[in-house]
Amino acid sequence: MRRVISSPPVLEGAVTPPGDKSVSHRALLLNSIARGRARVAGLSSGADVVSTMACLRCLGVEITAGEGEGSWVVQGRSGALTEPKDVLDAGNSGTSMRLLSGFLSGQPFFSVLTGDGSLRARPMGRVIEPLKRMGARIRGRADDTLAPLAIRGGSLRGVEYTMPVASAQVKSSILLAGLAAEGKTVLHQPAHSRDHTERMVAAMGGRIGVDGLTLEMEPALLEAVDVHVPGDISSAAFWIVAALCHPNARVTVSGVGVNPTRTGILTALEAMGARITQRNSRTEGGEPVADLLVESSELSSIDVDGDMVPLIIDELPVLAVAACFAGGTTNIRDAQELRVKESDRIATTVRELSALGARIEERPDGMVVHGTGRLTGNAGRSHGDHRLAMALAVAGLVGQGHTVVEGAEAADVSYPQFWEHLRGLSGQGEVSAPAMEKAT
Ligand code: S3P
Repeated sequence: MRRVISSPPVLEGAVTPPGDKSVSHRALLLNSIARGRARVAGLSSGADVVSTMACLRCLGVEITAGEGEGSWVVQGRSGALTEPKDVLDAGNSGTSMRLLSGFLSGQPFFSVLTGDGSLRARPMGRVIEPLKRMGARIRGRADDTLAPLAIRGGSLRGVEYTMPVASAQVKSSILLAGLAAEGKTVLHQPAHSRDHTERMVAAMGGRIGVDGLTLEMEPALLEAVDVHVPGDISSAAFWIVAALCHPNARVTVSGVGVNPTRTGILTALEAMGARITQRNSRTEGGEPVADLLVESSELSSIDVDGDMVPLIIDELPVLAVAACFAGGTTNIRDAQELRVKESDRIATTVRELSALGARIEERPDGMVVHGTGRLTGNAGRSHGDHRLAMALAVAGLVGQGHTVVEGAEAADVSYPQFWEHLRGLSGQGEVSAPAMEKAT
C-alpha cells in the first residue's frame, strides 16, 4: 500500500498513541504463566502483539476479549503450558520470538518458533547461547543462530551471565527462563535497557533485585496482575518530531508512558531545544505516564552515543528526521544494533532520507546528519519496516511537496491507527486513504 503525504498549513490537536508494544507483550506472557486471572487494558492491537497472543493460544492459554477496546482477560496456567500442535509463528516480532524462546525453554515439551523473512534473518544466537547454558536444548539454522528454532525445554538451572549487548529482549528472555529454573539467575548488563520485565515480575510477587547494572532473580510462580498498558512512547515519537519540526504546530500526545528507560527521545529532543511540556504526570500499573504538549521549535544538533543509545534505540530513524531540521551536525554513534532491527535501519534510513534531499551519511555504527532545514517530497520505501514507514510519513508532514510512502502497511506492526491519526492531526480528517493516494 502507498500513502502520499504533504505538509499541512497547521498541525494541531490531540492524539492518544496505542498501548506500549513492549509492555503489551509482557502483560500477556507473564500473566499466561501466572496463577490467577488478569485483566489487561489498553493492549496494543499491533501485529506484533497479535503474534504473541496467537502463539500463547497455541500453548493452551485462554485469552478472551474483555469489555471495551484493548481490553483482554488472560487466564494464567500456573507455570504449565501445553505442547503446541503446530509451529509457532512470531511474524515480524523480535520481541515475541526472543521472549518466547526463554519462556519455552522452561517448559518440558517440544516447540518450534518461526517468523517472517525479516525475523528469520535476525540474530537469535544472543538468546540461544545463554538459554543453552541454562540447560535448554535449542537448535536453529546457521549453527543455532537463526530461526526457525526448535526448542526442547525443561530442567533449567539459573545462571550468572554477562550480557554482551544491552538488550531488553535478551535480558527478558533469560529472566523468563529463570522463573522456571532451579536456583537464582544473575545478569550483568553492559548498560541500562527498558525495564518493563523487571517491574512486572516484581509487581507479580517475583523476587527480583536490581543493583546498578546487575539483576538477581529467584525462580517463582507469579501471581496474575491486572495491567493498564501506557501509551507507547515509541509511537508518540512520530507526532512529537512532526510537531517540533512543523512551523505551525501545537499537538498534545496523551497518556504516554514515560518510564526513564524509554525516554531517551525526550532527553535528546529537549537537549536540541524542543518545547515539550509534560502534564498530568501519574503512575498507571507501575509505569509513569504523562500527557505531552509539543510545540513548533527551533532545534539544534546533538550527539547521541554510548549508554544513551539503548534508551532511544527505536526512535533513532525519526530522530534522524528531526536532525534534518536542526541547526548543525548531528552524530549518532554506537548504534550498530540498528543494523539488526526489522530492517538495517542505518542503511534504510540513510537511503530513504537521502532520496528526500537530506544531507545524511552512513557510518558503520550510526549516521551523521547535516541539518539543512528542509526535505523535499519524493518516493520513499518502508523496506517492510514499521518505524521507517512512519518516519517517512513524518518527513512528508514537514517537508515540501508530496512524499510517497511505499509499503505503508508496515505501520500495522506497532501502530495500526497511524494513518487515521495522521489525517486527524493534519486537518485532513475527511480525506480517505485512496483520495490521498490520488494526490500525486
Ligand atoms: C524491545 C526491546 C528492544 C526494541 C524492541 C522492543 C522489547 O530491542 O528495539 O523494539 O520489548 O524488549 P533490543 O532489546 O533487542 O534492543
